[in-house]
Amino acid sequence: MENQKYKRYTITAALPYANGPKHIGHLAGAYIPADLYVRYLRLKKRDVVFVCGSDEHGTAIANQAMKEGTTPREIIDKYHALIKDCFEKLNISFDIYHRTSEPLHHETAQQFFRELNEKGIFEEKVSEQYFDVQANAFLADRYIIGTCPNCGNTHAYGDQCERCGTSLSPEELIDPRSALSGDKPVLKPTKHWYLPLNKYEDWLKEWILKGHAGDWKTNVYGQCKSWIDGGLHPRAVTRDLDWGIKVPVEGADGKVLYVWFDAPIGYISATRQWAIDNNQDWEPYWKGKDTKLVHFIGKDNIVFHCIVFPVMLHTQGEFIVPENVPANEFMNLEGDKMSTSRGWSIEMHEYLADFPNKVDELRYYLTAIAPETSDSEFTWKDYQARVNNELVAILGNFVNRVMVLMHKFFDGKITGDIKLTDANLSNDISQLYNELEASFEGYKFRQAQQIVMEMARLGNRYLTEKEPWKAIKTDPESARETLHNCLVLIGHLATCLQPFLPGTAAKMFNMINWKAEVVTFDEEISFADGHQLNAPALLFEKIEDEVIQKQIDKLNAKRDAVNAANGGAVKEDEVPAVTPAKENINYDQFAAMDIRVGTIVTAEKVAKTKKLLKLTIDTGIDTRTVVSGIAEHFEPDAIIGRQVSILVNLEPRELKGILSQGMILMAENAEGKLEFVSPGSQMAPGSVIR
Ligand code: 2FM
Ligand code: ZN
Repeated sequence: MENQKYKRYTITAALPYANGPKHIGHLAGAYIPADLYVRYLRLKKRDVVFVCGSDEHGTAIANQAMKEGTTPREIIDKYHALIKDCFEKLNISFDIYHRTSEPLHHETAQQFFRELNEKGIFEEKVSEQYFDVQANAFLADRYIIGTCPNCGNTHAYGDQCERCGTSLSPEELIDPRSALSGDKPVLKPTKHWYLPLNKYEDWLKEWILKGHAGDWKTNVYGQCKSWIDGGLHPRAVTRDLDWGIKVPVEGADGKVLYVWFDAPIGYISATRQWAIDNNQDWEPYWKGKDTKLVHFIGKDNIVFHCIVFPVMLHTQGEFIVPENVPANEFMNLEGDKMSTSRGWSIEMHEYLADFPNKVDELRYYLTAIAPETSDSEFTWKDYQARVNNELVAILGNFVNRVMVLMHKFFDGKITGDIKLTDANLSNDISQLYNELEASFEGYKFRQAQQIVMEMARLGNRYLTEKEPWKAIKTDPESARETLHNCLVLIGHLATCLQPFLPGTAAKMFNMINWKAEVVTFDEEISFADGHQLNAPALLFEKIEDEVIQKQIDKLNAKRDAVNAANGGAVKEDEVPAVTPAKENINYDQFAAMDIRVGTIVTAEKVAKTKKLLKLTIDTGIDTRTVVSGIAEHFEPDAIIGRQVSILVNLEPRELKGILSQGMILMAENAEGKLEFVSPGSQMAPGSVIR
């Protein structure tokens, strides 16, 4: 039996990148399932450590810092705090929420690298990679921009064209340029350390394809099989970057560990920190053959958790490999893919701000529609329906009816020692416990929650059948017995609800005046003579249509705002869309520019050119001529009267025989769309911009 086989459990949930808020799709994909499993294990009194933390290295962070015009350190501090706070409020019960920027993690990851290096596991290879001379940096594929050979998009990335979806390598780009400086990059040789996954194909076949054909989820097993059958290649585990963990060997200056090498080691360092904090030994949790290691992740992380990290653990020699990786598929939102950057998402902190007292409602709904076997879909209307028709009408209603009747008929007091006296009810409950445990052991949390709801339905049916509100008039003792049985059932229901709805379970225990601490699965629920119940309290409230409509409107407005900001272009997550920052200037250099609000008085095309408009501008100082390269973007007649920003002290220059006195400032997005930079409301021409 599995129970005897494992002495302890190490449970990990994917370390989220601390480069932005995380949405409820992430929550449904990895964190809620992991929390459900861990809470179940604790109810079974198993020895478990549940680790997570922020993934704080890699280009995504460096990239976000660039987007926000700040440093990686500021980014990770900000988002680590935000994400950690959300997880706490959502009752995700990590034993530790660590950070990969912590010195203990740097030390752990470096030691791991050193050990593999000393064992001769890595291959060292020199290859030519694009280098930005001005920025003095090698360029990750995403940081090389050029023209897509397939569709002509001039903003294609070195790994993919976001417009036509073609996957590219940097050499395929026409006219490549660096996203850091805009310069043409040069090819330069650089050395890296590679993990030769190809050498471990046989081991992976034996371990996964033979060993886990029966117990891993088909989506996970299928992905692994296609990776392995397709042939594995050595993977570089180092990068030329300055943000990350230094490669701990001689001659590796300017190189850091690849983020996907260090991140999973983050699970180990988190466990080490937890052990230090709790006076425990971390090693059995990672090296004990009687430890069950389970990684909870979303499907985009499968290859790293099923192939790359296990090869690292296996080659190190002392570590155990995961017993299971129950990865989930994705959760869509109102008919479209969830995406923070496209504004089509519900971020954890947004939900918490709008529904601070509806944490269990979200946990319930995300589990009810968990993307366990295929992608699923969050809709606000379905959320409302599940809360109103299931939590309010089935669970809340049962508990409330019993509590109200107990208070009405018996002043909320129990008479005589009570245990469950109805044999059918007792059998049904035991049966549900067995099914519940089997579902948890098989990572079927959706089904597990349905089973608990079945227990509430059972209570409602029992109550309806026994009709204590009628019996009280003719046979008060039978009414008392019915309600007492229902109270025992509420105790079981609360016990089983603990993993799913911890807040609700606590309220239920409080109402029946049961001990406050966690009740484990094998505890008997019975009440002593004279036990006094607490007052009934509503567990859930109905969600009205207006509340839901407000959320739908908010979602649409968020997408519209993001689209407007992107000039209507659709962007994928993690796309570095900004032009890189220029070198700093001092204040005097800035102050030397005289920028004013101006009003366009006339506009006409410049003959024999495609791009130029001749404008006359009322600058408040004078009315002057400016030639501007915006003819492909604006019809002359449509812009007369527009307020603009004009640099008035730019040296005049002649363009197509016209003296241009100044320059109109324009905002340009990644797709090349132009917009005037105008004051938010009408300002007198000549107003200073500074
Ligand atoms: O995809 C992600 O968000 C990664 N930060 C997950 C890392 S999981 C683990 F390896 F740390
Ligand atoms: Zn393209």
